[in-house]
Amino acid sequence: MEESPELERRAAAGGALLDGEDEEREPLLPRIAWAQPRRSAPGTAVRMVEAAQKEGLASLSAIDEKLLFGPKDSPCCPSLDLGLPRSSPTHGGDCDHSLSSELNSFVDDPGFADAILKAEQAIEFGVFPERIPQGSSGSYFVKDPKRRIIGVFKPKSEEPYSQLNPKWTKYIHKVCCPCCFGRGCLVPNQGYLSEAAASLVDEKLHLGIVPKTRVVWLVSETFNYSTIDRAKARGKKYALEKVPKVGRKFHRIGLPPKIGSFQLFVDGYKEAEFWLRKFEADPLPENTRKQFQSQFERLVVLDYIIRNTDRGNDNWLIKYEKQKDGKEIKEAKCVDEKESLIKVAAIDNGLAFPFKHPDEWRAYPFHWAWLPQAKVPFSEETRNLILPNISDMNFVQDLCEDLYELFKTDKRFNQATFESQMSVMRGQILNLTQALRDGKSPVQLVQMPCVLVEHSPGRAKGRISHLNSSFTQTFHCRKPFFTSW
Ligand SMILES: Nc1ncnc2c1ncn2[C@@H]1O[C@H](COP(=O)(O)OP(=O)(O)O)[C@@H](O)[C@H]1O
Ligand SMILES: [Mg+2]
Repeated sequence: MEESPELERRAAAGGALLDGEDEEREPLLPRIAWAQPRRSAPGTAVRMVEAAQKEGLASLSAIDEKLLFGPKDSPCCPSLDLGLPRSSPTHGGDCDHSLSSELNSFVDDPGFADAILKAEQAIEFGVFPERIPQGSSGSYFVKDPKRRIIGVFKPKSEEPYSQLNPKWTKYIHKVCCPCCFGRGCLVPNQGYLSEAAASLVDEKLHLGIVPKTRVVWLVSETFNYSTIDRAKARGKKYALEKVPKVGRKFHRIGLPPKIGSFQLFVDGYKEAEFWLRKFEADPLPENTRKQFQSQFERLVVLDYIIRNTDRGNDNWLIKYEKQKDGKEIKEAKCVDEKESLIKVAAIDNGLAFPFKHPDEWRAYPFHWAWLPQAKVPFSEETRNLILPNISDMNFVQDLCEDLYELFKTDKRFNQATFESQMSVMRGQILNLTQALRDGKSPVQLVQMPCVLVEHSPGRAKGRISHLNSSFTQTFHCRKPFFTSW
């Protein structure tokens, strides 16, 4: 008998994925960060020892001990365990912003650290993140103290199928149509990691199209909290005011910080759909068309490698600036990246990194494959940028290791599931390498048979050819039920 997609999904995810469980109650990230203060997971926030010392923490060894071996329901912010002084929020009633700031540190990325600091300061001053009305998850525009939007925060607990997702359409979907619920090929409720991982892939391949995205902790009363969390926060605050002696014993005052992805906001961009229509009616001049083609190919490379299942034309943005006199930069003039008139931003990367190729009910096609740009063979520029890296096994291995450091920070991380995710990704990389070598176009790329490149040969069921002693390649023969190819 065939297993139901839901069972299969759970089995592949290690059987430990219970929908609706609240991640924020037991965050693993800070514990890992403290356990290994020098080696941070790429794309994640790390609380640094120096920061802790600045806060006046007495002895590091004592703290480590508490964090590593302390009670399981220890609070998000360890310093509170020790009853050390914290800054009190100036605004915002129920929130404790110092909690999230203690969990965020990006010592190797001052620019990003500065953005997060500004976001935390804004929240302290009462400039709260604002929910984005469109989209299926709880996503928030985060502002700086001057009320300028600087980032997009997507809390893990408000992802499309999480219990605190604020969008009622998803709730109806979950209740009325449970069989079609979620994407059967994705690890549920790890969208925030997928967002950060897409940014990591973008950086490693020097694509420059994903706005920098990291895993961050934030707390704001505008986030969707359960009634219980809000009541607890109010109760504790009340107790602290009325009976300070008792109140100080609480592990945490205020609402709990939420873990999620934080993506830097890009200014002046519009949804791709908008510009694509315009370009149809009013074709781009040759020079700009070439730039756009190059940016488009980078989007294809990213999506194909991470096997994005949600790349509609609403999930990528284009910035296009016409020259003032109505003319483009002259043909002869060489335009570098910074002067570029046209730029693509790949946002909303939360539904990628599947643990198997889509093959059940829907194919999750790449919507860009219907565009005329997809019929053009990959340019030499793209081939030169991508091929040297992806055809190098050491580079691919290094990429997998960086992704491991990021993915393992999730509380429900499962090694076998992660291996499956990497087998899909390595298969995609193999196809892409071949397509670039053969001078194929994006359309031809998506028509190639799906491949898995696995570590162990034991489980492979398809046609197998050995790549080397440690990898096997499996052609994925089952066709999707609904597909355009
Ligand atoms: N990094 C960003 N820079 C600028 N605008 C963004 C960015 N991320 C999202 N947006 C805007 O917010 C909207 C919703 O974001 P999206 O990531 O698609 O969220 P959802 O997961 O809810 O669909 C997008 O359509 C876009 O207009
Ligand atoms: Mg979207």
